[in-house]
Amino acid sequence: MRDEGRSEMSQEEFHLLRDMVYDHCGILIRDEMKFVMERRLWPRLEALGLEDFHAYHRHLRYDAQRKNELETAVEALTTNETYFFREPQQLKAFSEEILPELAARGGRQRRIRLWSAGCSSGEEAYTIAILALESGLFAGWDVEVYGTDISRRVLAAARHADYGPSSLRAAPPDLVARHFEPPAGRKRRVSAAVRSMVSFGHLNLLDEEMAQLVPRMDAIFCRNVLIYFDVPARRRVLKVFYEKLVEGGYLLLGHSESLITLSADFELAHLRHDLVYRRPRSGVRP
Ligand SMILES: C[S@@+](CC[C@H](N)C(=O)[O-])C[C@H]1O[C@@H](n2cnc3c(N)ncnc32)[C@H](O)[C@@H]1O
Repeated sequence: MRDEGRSEMSQEEFHLLRDMVYDHCGILIRDEMKFVMERRLWPRLEALGLEDFHAYHRHLRYDAQRKNELETAVEALTTNETYFFREPQQLKAFSEEILPELAARGGRQRRIRLWSAGCSSGEEAYTIAILALESGLFAGWDVEVYGTDISRRVLAAARHADYGPSSLRAAPPDLVARHFEPPAGRKRRVSAAVRSMVSFGHLNLLDEEMAQLVPRMDAIFCRNVLIYFDVPARRRVLKVFYEKLVEGGYLLLGHSESLITLSADFELAHLRHDLVYRRPRSGVRP
């Protein structure tokens, strides 16, 4: 039911706002999501003392704070659902097949770089760091895990590294005991050793210029992010990933995501525990 006194978002306002969000971050809000968009953005109008979506659109276009407000609007519209040790079968392939291969390959430099792109509140990045530690393959190595996201709010939570039961619902208890500080209330904080392996940064995956600053990676996790983009936006992000992966580097997507019709640049690696994508070595066409 519509709240009293609220004026409905017109179809035109919906299209204007939707296009702004899409141009900023590649997230496609379908027509049937108009109601959800309206519901999630109303608190912003209230916070800013604006009467209707026409005024909100003007604010996003012309106000001195428009850049910050667009980021806040995108935060209100995105899904940040995540938890530790999500998609265990893929993580098994990562631990038992990908990490040993990367360790064998990177012997001389003794450095490995892993990226959680669209890391939300950090559970995925810390999971990757814990798995690298647990593998026992990288003692004395420089293990660098990067977590990036478009939302500054989730990044603040990631840096804080304090998690409740919902984030830990799929985490094996022995790993929680080893890699988290003792419980403080209902929350557990990631251990200092794991925290020191992970750095978080703000990055819009559609900002190719900023993405240039990301170093070359041995593996990229981008799970449950591309599903929110349309095809051209997915292609742009995949180009960035291709450039940022070392030759033979791995790309791990969410299980409902595939590169079919999106990119022919990657090869499908048939690992024992999962199918994942890989940047081919030069001269080898997928
Ligand atoms: C559903 S969460 C996925 C978290 C984690 N990768 C996982 O699978 O558990 C999607 C995340 O992608 C982020 N995101 C959406 N669009 C983005 C963009 N253009 N650039 C960077 N991050 C983006 C959102 O802020 C959100 O935190």
